[in-house]
Amino acid sequence: MSLAVQEFSTLDHLQGGERPPELKGWPLVGVLPALRRDPLRFFTRVARQHGGAVTLRFGPDRVVMLNDPAMIRHVLQDNRLNYEKSKFYDMMRSVLGEGIFLAEGDDWLHQRKTAARGFQGCQLRRMTEAMQTAVDEMLARWRKQAAVEAPLDVVPEMMRLTLDIVMRTLFSVHLQGEHEQVYVAMTRVLRDAERRIWSPFVLPRWLPTANNRAVKDALASLDDFVYGLIARRRAAARSAEHDPESEGDLLDLMMANQNGRSDKALRDQVLSMILAGHETTANGLAWTWYLLSLHPESRRRVKAEVESVLGGRAPDFADLSKLTYTRCVLDEALRLYPPLWTFSRTAVADDRIGELDIPAGTNVMMNMFAVHRRPELWDNPEGFDPGRFDPETGDPRRRFAYFPFSDGPRSCLGERFAILESLIAMVGIVQNFDLHLLSGQEVKPEPMITLRPSGLTMQLVPLRES
Ligand code: HEM
Repeated sequence: MSLAVQEFSTLDHLQGGERPPELKGWPLVGVLPALRRDPLRFFTRVARQHGGAVTLRFGPDRVVMLNDPAMIRHVLQDNRLNYEKSKFYDMMRSVLGEGIFLAEGDDWLHQRKTAARGFQGCQLRRMTEAMQTAVDEMLARWRKQAAVEAPLDVVPEMMRLTLDIVMRTLFSVHLQGEHEQVYVAMTRVLRDAERRIWSPFVLPRWLPTANNRAVKDALASLDDFVYGLIARRRAAARSAEHDPESEGDLLDLMMANQNGRSDKALRDQVLSMILAGHETTANGLAWTWYLLSLHPESRRRVKAEVESVLGGRAPDFADLSKLTYTRCVLDEALRLYPPLWTFSRTAVADDRIGELDIPAGTNVMMNMFAVHRRPELWDNPEGFDPGRFDPETGDPRRRFAYFPFSDGPRSCLGERFAILESLIAMVGIVQNFDLHLLSGQEVKPEPMITLRPSGLTMQLVPLRES
């Protein structure tokens, strides 16, 4: 049983009017030098040493890191209207503009309601077909690659798959090879945003440095991609080429609900959904393959379950809920390597979290990577143990202690979509291939805005002729 302590579900352990302990670090820069050396290790250690809440100085800013599920629930759910996305999200504003990720208030609600219609149960059921087609195309590509024994660079492959899926299901587009363009540009802007968040001094974007020029090019490339998509849809709507398949897809919904907003606003909505919808799932899947390659007994159990539920055929919507162990593996991968590994909010007005004073303007950070590895919350926190998520043994997906998709009203809109596509991909892959880590590989988590495994190259071993 992985629930180690119960007291974290209440705030009673805090004393009246408390301030969290503060880690000041160095003059001017605070903890940033230590943090930048290895952010994941830094935050995990801080959460272990300081428990429920601790204040960190990031250069001129103070950030309260919340590691207690009850405190996290307070911010994300109980008093959520008092917490807006923090200024650290501004680093992504040049990419995502006023799209759903960064929007607040009525604008956010309008976008959320519009997009939610594209993710209703009946829509998801319909989308599984397109997800399967994308997986089948990937498998066909992999067969060719395996025939020449070429190793597989797993992250771009998973990105390609999940981008394909998002484009087919939400925007009714079958990409012809633009994956590389999107992958290269997204990587560039995410790395840049992350560096800016953890840097005490950042050069203004207008300075013509090599990095600024590369980021500008990357943004232009993403703009071309998205504006091209919008222009083609408009042209198709006017002409006889109109594709009935695209009727009522997310792009249709977004265009119909524009209410006089600019094309830039539409571009922000589309690009936000493309980024949110593929980068995270791809990383979750890449980590899953990494973990399964380290744990062959788990890989065998996944294969056995897939064989017993499906016997070699592709899954339909109803089959996916029967893949209990496979789902546990995915949950465990998202616990150990949450693809969005940290996020933050700013208090709008003075607040109290339990007895903790939170003055207006305080930045609070919720770090999934660190919370998912707290020994007070998890047995064997660093170990890979999918069994901890077994639904037979209690309530394993504990809210606010386990929150890879965040939680509350602003949680991930694509959670069910992501689980579905991940399971479909896992089934297709284990039915056709074994993935083995190449010997001598050093796989490391690269904490950008998302958490990617860097250096993940694998050997494809086909299981049967098809
Ligand atoms: C394993 C895959 C995924 C993970 C771990 C994940 C995680 C998250 C997290 C943590 C947030 C909250 C971010 C914050 O508050 O700053 C979020 C928001 C969001 N996600 Fe996901 N996500 C995944 C897949 C997807 C997919 C597939 C889609 C769409 C197809 C999607 C769409 C969104 C959207 C639209 C939001 C913004 C919601 C809002 O602000 O109202 N995500 N996601």
